[in-house]
Amino acid sequence: MIIAVDGPAASGKGTIARALARHYALPHLDTGLLYRAVARRLLDDGSDPADQDAAAAACDFDDALLGDPRLKADDAGKVASIVSAHPAVRAALIERQKRFARQDGGAVLDGRDIGTVIAPDADAKLFVRATSAIRARRRHDELRKAGSALSYDRVLADLKARDLRDTTRAAAPLRQAPDAVALDTSFLSVESAISHAIEIVERCRSAK
Ligand code: DC
Repeated sequence: MIIAVDGPAASGKGTIARALARHYALPHLDTGLLYRAVARRLLDDGSDPADQDAAAAACDFDDALLGDPRLKADDAGKVASIVSAHPAVRAALIERQKRFARQDGGAVLDGRDIGTVIAPDADAKLFVRATSAIRARRRHDELRKAGSALSYDRVLADLKARDLRDTTRAAAPLRQAPDAVALDTSFLSVESAISHAIEIVERCRSAK
């Protein structure tokens, strides 16, 4: 069984994808980490993220980089959103993701284009959303706990800029696949968001 989980930053898609992977005992890939790894390499080299050739050359990273805690930082996320708009970067990372999705027994992948590009034939597709104010509140709380002094307004503005880049880029923009089921987590606890997600997967499975 392949489960595709897409949605904007801080929508809760990562938490939901991890919980689904645990529930169904499937391997999980957070595809945002791949773009964050490319971003991290460019940041470390002092390269310009707008330079498509430099970004494409940074795509041949070792899997060990995916465990680097610095990938979770805000700068890597922001630059990931910039490099992910380059068609050459998306092309360089697509096979790795498709291979993960096709493995025996299935997989859970979360990202922006899983249901539309990476696994259009997924058995269950979820599109996780939440209002930008709520997503910014969650991200602000996370950053504050991690010791960051960024203001809520700044976090909200960054999130909106990221949403705009992710949804308006020409190559595989963030959008809900026609056969994806929307799950709005704005007013749900983590536990109820997860149980709704499991219900959606069960419904998709029995409809097959
Ligand atoms: O989900 P995230 O915040 O880790 O993703 C970081 C950036 O990577 C996001 O702003 C857009 C890009 N991304 C993408 O273009 N396609 C994916 N499947 C996953 C992430």
